Amino acid sequence: MKLAILSRNGKLYSTRRLVEAARVRGHTVRVLDPLRCYMHISSEGFDMHYKGAPLADYNAVIPRIGASITRYGSAVLRQFELMGADTPNPSDAILKARDKLRAHQLLAAQGIGLPTTVFGDNPDDTDDLLSMLGPPPHVIKLNEGTQGAGVMLTEKLSASRGVIEALRGLYAQFVVQEFIREAKGADLRCFVVGGHVVGAMKRQSARGDFRSNLHRGGTAVGVVPSEHEIETALRAAQVLGLGIAGVDLIRSDRGPLVLEVNASPGLEGIERATGLDIAGSIIDHVFASGAASSLKRNRKPAKKSTKRGTTKAKAKAKPKGPKPKAGSASPAKGKRGRL
Ligand SMILES: Nc1ncnc2c1ncn2[C@@H]1O[C@H](COP(=O)(O)OP(=O)(O)OP(=O)(O)O)[C@@H](O)[C@H]1O
Ligand SMILES: [Mg+2]
Repeated sequence: MKLAILSRNGKLYSTRRLVEAARVRGHTVRVLDPLRCYMHISSEGFDMHYKGAPLADYNAVIPRIGASITRYGSAVLRQFELMGADTPNPSDAILKARDKLRAHQLLAAQGIGLPTTVFGDNPDDTDDLLSMLGPPPHVIKLNEGTQGAGVMLTEKLSASRGVIEALRGLYAQFVVQEFIREAKGADLRCFVVGGHVVGAMKRQSARGDFRSNLHRGGTAVGVVPSEHEIETALRAAQVLGLGIAGVDLIRSDRGPLVLEVNASPGLEGIERATGLDIAGSIIDHVFASGAASSLKRNRKPAKKSTKRGTTKAKAKAKPKGPKPKAGSASPAKGKRGRL
């Protein structure tokens, strides 16, 4: 099978592990920088080129698209989809997950637990907005924030108002949430692959912080989530249409609440904390369903191959490459996960 990994940097842990796991299973794999993929589109057909040569006949694509290139990266992925490649995380699902307000709305509409969240635009509405949320403490989060930066805790109403005013002055987009005190600075990352939680880790904040991000000094250990947590994580990934997702949950008195659904979850933290071969689970899922076993018909087939190398979908034959070698290139302990 021919697999493309869309990633800006082949040296990143997650990308390397996916390449390794694919090769061990006998697949042909290539890392493509999405920003070096370019397209010719017309009603006659499609072309996609990479560094001067045509790209065609990929059975499957695993997108590892960072937040800073969401728009272009998802356009490249969409082009692969139109050319018949299978992907566990389609471009539309990635766009839904990346837009935090949209993701919150979609998850809430399906009855999935979330910390109570408010957002608004006009400063004149701040008092009513905060009264809709309830009394402090409040957690104020920048929509563009990541790794805990841009997540603030305000203990008093006056502090919430002050921070909101300051953020509005900077034209920043943010949401305000109830503070889940009983989580005691911990959250739970459930790694979803193909309708299963294949690994989970509990992250605990450093002393004196309420944010459990590893970049903020938090620590992680592998855990077995409860049935309710597994069900919540699976439903969250399903609602957004993601085959692979890192679902972050916070443990509240009223059950697990979703903080975020990550469409390109990193593998390093979860593989190190659990000792599981998460990359292997991803590759197995991508090729197991049979969806990627033959190239889907190009929905807009090119008329004829031209000098440009216009892409035509072809049925793929047998897998190429060496047979899987057991045990090699495995992660920490090479275990497979399914919780
Ligand atoms: N409503 C909340 N109540 C209590 N703690 C919270 C709440 N929201 C977030 N936290 C803590 O702060 C940490 C960071 O928040 P969050 O995960 O929402 O933002 P981020 O990590 O910066 O961005 P993202 O995960 O969306 O990339 C969480 O892991 C959690 O430990
Ligand atoms: Mg987070």
